[in-house]
Order: sequence, then structure tokens, then C-alpha cells
Amino acid sequence: MKVKDLFDLTGKKALVTGGSYGLGRAMAEALVEAGAEVGLVDISDQLADAARALASLGRKAIGIRADLCDRGERKRAFQDFLQAFGAVDILVNNAGITRRHVAEEFPVEDWDQVIEVNLTAVFDLCQMAGKVMLAQGSGKIINIASLYAFLGGLRVPAYTASKGGVAQLTRALANEWAGRGVHVNAIAPGYFDTPLNTALKNDARRYQEILNRIPAGRWGQPDDLKGAVVFLASRASDYVHGAILVVDGGFLGR
Ligand SMILES: NC(=O)c1ccc[n+]([C@@H]2O[C@H](COP(=O)([O-])OP(=O)(O)OC[C@H]3O[C@@H](n4cnc5c(N)ncnc54)[C@H](O)[C@@H]3O)[C@@H](O)[C@H]2O)c1
Repeated sequence: MKVKDLFDLTGKKALVTGGSYGLGRAMAEALVEAGAEVGLVDISDQLADAARALASLGRKAIGIRADLCDRGERKRAFQDFLQAFGAVDILVNNAGITRRHVAEEFPVEDWDQVIEVNLTAVFDLCQMAGKVMLAQGSGKIINIASLYAFLGGLRVPAYTASKGGVAQLTRALANEWAGRGVHVNAIAPGYFDTPLNTALKNDARRYQEILNRIPAGRWGQPDDLKGAVVFLASRASDYVHGAILVVDGGFLGR
């Protein structure tokens, strides 16, 4: 197969969580540009606008509103996706949240919420999509981890625990499903300029400290993930299983 065909996603049905803005929006755009049809599952008020903007690129794109904290809503959203698209070829578990407190005061309610959205919802959607993909004998699951799958971080214990969990879950599922046509991989983004990092960006000293450690000399922009997500969603990655693809401007190697 020619290299340009390896990356072609024409006709593939992709479910992207949290695609209204930030990294999910750019990754959804990349999938559409590569030919996929996309359903965004998100709680945001910006969902309808994001879906409209994607549809204007010439492929089917719809928004499915759901709170991923709620197990019933997750199930309903997945069923809505299947109803609308008839299959699921690509799942990008992107939606994620963080809460910042010193560890000794970290409220258990915040812990529960972060773990529910960042880890339990990821498992739940992997399981729902995995069943369909195993039955059809093919599928690409891409979980969005973080550098905090490798590093401990400061004042984000729940986030760090959840992202370490996402990396391990990715490996666990890959071990079970790789031989049955279903690919499970993850992307670990470094520091990206999105609303998730508003607190960090507003802390001038911390912002500069982080910047000083990035060999590329800049924070990431959402478009920096477009190549990685198309690679892992396409035939170009057909012998890649259980990988955590780090996209961080070199931060981790420093
Ligand atoms: N920005 C970074 O530097 C960075 C670095 C590493 C990993 N990540 C990860 O990448 C993913 C996306 O991050 P981002 O920076 O784009 O975040 P963001 O805050 O900019 O966007 C998060 C998206 O998830 C949606 N979302 C949040 N809670 C939801 C819920 N309960 N139900 C449904 N949708 C919900 C939001 O509406 C939004 O569309 C997250 O998993 C995050 O942990 C981000």
C-alpha cells in the first residue's frame, strides 16, 4: 500500500470525547481532514458550534451532548453514536479534567470526579466500543494520557493517578485485543496551550519554568497533535499496540 493511502480515513466512523475545544477539537478536525466522519461527545455549550464547523469541512459531523461523569449518560451517548453512524471504527478518549490542591487537603469529591471522567469513563467507553470493534474484527482506540503518566506532578494527585491509570489500561487492553484486530494506544501530550492549563499559564513564574525545560522552545499548540492522532487512527499504525506516543517538544527527555 502506498504511504498516502496508509493515512486515509475515508468513511471511518470516529467518536471523539471532549471535542468542543482544546486538543479534542484539533484531533477531531484532523480525523475529518483525513476523511473520517465524526461524532463529538461533550458537555460544553460550544458543542453545536464545533460540530457545525467540522461538518463545514464536507464530512458528516454531529454533536452528542453528555456528561461523561454520569454512567447512564455515557451509555446513552454511545448508543446515540451507533444509531447515527451504524458502526464505530475509531474512539478517541480525549475529555479530561483536572483539580489543583495540595495533596493533604485534596477533597475526596474532587478525587472522585477526576477519576470518573479521566479513567472510569475511558474504561467504560473502551469496553463499549471494544465489544463492537471485536465483533467487526477491527478498530482503533486512542486514549489521551499525559506526561503525568510518567511524572508525579505537583498539587494534581488525582490527575496524575488517573493518567498513570490510562497508560496502564491502554497496555492491558492492547494485550487482550491486539490479536483480534483492535488497536489500543495512547498519546501523551506535553504542555499545550488550552483552557485546561489556564491556571498554569496565569502563573508567570511556573509558565517560564516549564518553557525553560522544553527543548523545542515553545508550548504545544493543539494542531501539534494532528499527525499523531491520524497515525494511530489509520493503517499506518497497524503493527503498533499498547504504545504511549509522547508529543511534548522533547520535555520528557530533558
Ligand atoms: N492541555 C495540555 O497541556 C494537556 C497535556 C496532557 C494531557 N492533556 C489531556 O488532553 C485532554 C484534553 O485536554 P485539553 O487541554 O483539550 O482540555 P480542555 O479543558 O481544553 O478541554 C476538555 C474538553 O473535555 C470536555 N469535558 C470536560 N468534562 C467533561 C464531561 N464531564 N463530560 C463531557 N465532556 C467533558 C470539555 O467540555 C472540553 O471540550 C485531557 O484528557 C487532558 O488531560 C492535556
